[in-house]
Amino acid sequence: MKNLDRDIERVCFSAEEIAKRVKELGEEITRDYEEKDLVVVAVLKGSFVFAADLLREIDLPCDFEVMRVSSYGAGTESSGSVKIISDLDEDISGRHVLMIEDILDTGVTLTYLRDHVFAARNTASFKICAMFDKTQRRTCDIHADYRGFETPGEFIVGYGLDYNQKYRNLPYVGVLKPEIYKKKM
Ligand code: IMP
Ligand code: MG
Repeated sequence: MKNLDRDIERVCFSAEEIAKRVKELGEEITRDYEEKDLVVVAVLKGSFVFAADLLREIDLPCDFEVMRVSSYGAGTESSGSVKIISDLDEDISGRHVLMIEDILDTGVTLTYLRDHVFAARNTASFKICAMFDKTQRRTCDIHADYRGFETPGEFIVGYGLDYNQKYRNLPYVGVLKPEIYKKKM
């Protein structure tokens, strides 16, 4: 990634490290959901890369659904309010739901989905799989049942994670150079 590499100050997780961890998560999920009616729900856009990789490491018959929510305005701080842009189109009552998130930060997004969306849908279970987890930034009572990596509070991009909608296509995860935030995109 010659062009995008130039904007990265430091690599946090390499493509190889990520692939190895995703495989392990897939194996764990495969063990836990055997014989269960599993519906994997990706929270778009951020989780599309992780979901595509993880799904292929889950060796079970399962459904795949997407939801689009938005909690971030432009920039690196959450707007604090969650908007559902596109909801599920399948009935999930009585089924085991596994939410796929790119990153669990304040926890506002998933807490909202859990308490205001899924609570009323009578699922058999509701669990969360987050590739990255910023535990120290949490403001809500929510945790990842499956987590790829714990990461400090700093803003990261790549592997689906964006800054102003860019850098999602970076195959690894890193921190942007400070001058990128000053530039108008
Ligand atoms: P939360 O509601 O604060 O947990 O935020 C969750 C969403 O914020 C994630 O799904 C991401 O889309 C976005 N987000 C949080 N931290 C980062 C980051 O470091 N880089 C890119 N996006 C982030
Ligand atoms: Mg997201």
